[in-house]
Amino acid sequence: MPQFQDPRLLVSGATMDDAGVYKLNEQQALVQTVDFFTPMVDDPYVFGQVAAANALSDIYAMGGRPLTALNIAAFDLDIGKEVIQRILAGGAVKLQEAGCLLVGGHTIEDKEPKYGLAVTGLVHPDKLITNAGAQPGARVVLTKPLGSGILSTALKGDLLDNEGLEELTAVMTELNDKASAVMQQVGVLAATDITGFGLLGHAWEICASSGVGMELQYGDIPVMDRVVDFASMGVIPAGAYKNKRYLEDKIEFSGVPEHGQIILCDPQTSGGLLIVVEESKLSELTGLLQAAGIDGSVIGTITDSKGLITVTG
Ligand code: CO
Ligand code: CO
Ligand code: CO
Repeated sequence: MPQFQDPRLLVSGATMDDAGVYKLNEQQALVQTVDFFTPMVDDPYVFGQVAAANALSDIYAMGGRPLTALNIAAFDLDIGKEVIQRILAGGAVKLQEAGCLLVGGHTIEDKEPKYGLAVTGLVHPDKLITNAGAQPGARVVLTKPLGSGILSTALKGDLLDNEGLEELTAVMTELNDKASAVMQQVGVLAATDITGFGLLGHAWEICASSGVGMELQYGDIPVMDRVVDFASMGVIPAGAYKNKRYLEDKIEFSGVPEHGQIILCDPQTSGGLLIVVEESKLSELTGLLQAAGIDGSVIGTITDSKGLITVTG
């Protein structure tokens, strides 16, 4: 972990980590994060749920427990009071599920609707989970299937059927709370949540912060049902290409099809946790995840090839 001037600042938001962490005392540290975005689904209630699950996720990724949240919103009053209420109700129901209290918020007028939250959580300073603790030989586990960017793009193009929309909604509205609790119970080396930089972008953050490399098995990486078809058809968000270009000299693909490479770079909304765990604790972690109703897929191994990710088909 980098050294900061002020010893109370355990993790700065200026690094690649998910949230800023401020040490209150020997037992408690505050975890703070903010996230908001434009709608990726038509249903305002679902959009509100996704925005809240996504904002809470950065607290869970660091092993924290969310305490309070503030709404951040921008609405054009023309969309109607009822739509705005549905968005906020979606956010509220997820906060309730998380046991996190809404303590206020701020709304401005804007043509393009935006919604999200600033969330404050608590973690024991010794149980803080960052990007920086991965060690060679440790295993890599992913807790949600990929493809929400691609499926959202298909939805915008009117190409996604109801079953596809249901799967997308279920994945994006699922809290990472149980996965986070399991990580804390087992004790893991590093973790982050998968969001805008895609699986490979966030995997690279762990590699860069920890000074290690990663080896991923393409066939073991979980993907939602219709994602491969859409990716093969070229239904791909611009952000996936942008991520792939940025990662060009950091990733080596061997035997991974073109559409697979782009799926691994697909920007995720409210994605799963990417967890690095010692080999000796792997079966305990996946077993407890399964007992909590989560499919923890073992997708790779940490290596000593500093800053390099290899993906094998
Ligand atoms: Co994050
Ligand atoms: Co974030
Ligand atoms: Co991250």
